[in-house]
Amino acid sequence: MSKVSENYKIIDHQYDVVIVGAGGAGLRAALGMSAAGLSTACISKVFPTRSHTVAAQGGISAALGNMGDGDHWKHHVYDTVKGSDWLGDQDAIEYMCRNAIPAVIELEHMGVPFSRTDEGTIYQRLFGGHTIDKGKSMANRACAAADRTGHAILHTLYQQCLKHKTKFFIEYFALDLIMDNDGSCRGVTAMCLEDGTIHRFSAKTVVLATGGYGRAFTTCTGAHTCTGDGGGMVLRAGLPLQDMEFIQFHPTGIHGAGCLITEGVRGEGGYLINSEGERFMERYAPNAKDLASRDVVSRAMTIEINEGRGVGPDKDHVHLVITHLDPDLIEKRLPGISESARIFAGVDVTKEPIPVAPTVHYNMGGIPTNIHCEVINPTKSDPDATVKGLMAIGEAACVSVHGANRLGTNSLLDLVVFGRAAALRAAETLKHDEPHKPLPTDSAEFSLGRLDRLRHSTGKLSTADIRKDMQKTMQSYCPVFRTDERLETGLSEITRAATSLKDIGLTDRSMIWNTDLVEALELENLMGQAVVTMGSAKARTESRGAHSTGDHPERDDTNWLKHTVAHCSDLKTIKLSYRPVHMNTLTDEIETVPLAKRVY
Ligand code: FUM
Repeated sequence: MSKVSENYKIIDHQYDVVIVGAGGAGLRAALGMSAAGLSTACISKVFPTRSHTVAAQGGISAALGNMGDGDHWKHHVYDTVKGSDWLGDQDAIEYMCRNAIPAVIELEHMGVPFSRTDEGTIYQRLFGGHTIDKGKSMANRACAAADRTGHAILHTLYQQCLKHKTKFFIEYFALDLIMDNDGSCRGVTAMCLEDGTIHRFSAKTVVLATGGYGRAFTTCTGAHTCTGDGGGMVLRAGLPLQDMEFIQFHPTGIHGAGCLITEGVRGEGGYLINSEGERFMERYAPNAKDLASRDVVSRAMTIEINEGRGVGPDKDHVHLVITHLDPDLIEKRLPGISESARIFAGVDVTKEPIPVAPTVHYNMGGIPTNIHCEVINPTKSDPDATVKGLMAIGEAACVSVHGANRLGTNSLLDLVVFGRAAALRAAETLKHDEPHKPLPTDSAEFSLGRLDRLRHSTGKLSTADIRKDMQKTMQSYCPVFRTDERLETGLSEITRAATSLKDIGLTDRSMIWNTDLVEALELENLMGQAVVTMGSAKARTESRGAHSTGDHPERDDTNWLKHTVAHCSDLKTIKLSYRPVHMNTLTDEIETVPLAKRVY
């Protein structure tokens, strides 16, 4: 029988490291690995500076204490553990919060144009859930470049990669991991979007830095490119994803359009009101108010809307007010959201409130890793067993530093701290002089079989039909508030949507800029993650962080203080298991944050 791979021209490459994804995490890893003398390739489906990190607005957290509030990395650790509703691994959280300080200073030295205080230090603003001394006061911890912090960081990191001579494969779509019989990862396959050539990369380590899968939902703050391609590859390789039930809804997406209005708006003094003009957050979080943790604010907004106090003709959103702020401050600190509000909501923020609603923003779950970014595939005897040759970083990964709910600004931090950690580990463990092992025979057959099947598919459903079905199912059955019954129906609905992929039909059979094909490949990646999200959510019979179920309103540490581990290689058969949360710290310089009720 002839092989599919015989019908495609394959171009082979060898690199010490191949990074898939050129957002903040991928670029930080790439520059560190290149600088360490490893041959480093970075594959990206978009031009690097168009990666979704560019859209991050409010800031990157680090306890620099520039605003004179006496901040300390230990306060940051406490807030992050509490924010995670105790599902975050405390050793990893210590690693991230301690390393935040040198990581941000390093960015400053690389040239990130941070906003400045009058003294010339990095400007820091308030953000939800970030406090001094266990909530005694709010912390100015978000280091900001106006409200375009991600943009500033991404461009600087790309320039650093060019300086260190990272080899970029731009507008290449990664297809699948190349796995060896012993379970190790040996490389990755990709398609060049411009000319349709197939590329097979042999790598001593592959690093997945592919971002989140927000586009599994109808409305999200993520770009259309946020299709979780690494998570899809991992599931197909028979590896698990972790804590996928925890989907973060950002409180302030622009109503309808879904674009992000940074939490930094509330950090600068903005507040939310309902149809009665009431600052309702005072009832839900008497201390932190509008600066409570995101899951808390999103739930409060949803309750206001569900109880009829929403605004607009359908009473389906609330208002974010900044008309009381000095227009000069708005121009200086919040120029980006002023523009977004004007374009997407037709609002002059100095005169009118911004219509906002909770919108899917971030995936706390992802590819499980340890603090060195090595991918974990737990076994019965070792819950922390690693996969040789595979790392994951950024939103694609689940270290886990965010647990059940991420604090704003800890995402940009996660990208740079763990991008750097991956580079340090690669420099320590890989030797440039060591020859590559030959790749397994037929190493491109699996990915090309999949590509070829989709490319020549003749079913009656378009990619857009199936994608819409998946997105509506996720939005409707896996929202801010969940119930057993809705999740049960949601699981059968998402399984039905996944099964309908067999009826997909593409119309473009070419290999040159075939966006029909790319969207179908992205849809398969999204679908696997949608299925495990619903399955993991249905199984977790408690409320913790972003997973809130009406049938089980309390956190249940006796039964559920554990990470969900989900395998699902065929888009329908979900195998769930669990692994312990690391309650230990990394060093004895800080004590474990003991379990407590989470109130703001
Ligand atoms: O609101 C924001 O600026 C988003 C920040 C984040 O998700 O970390």
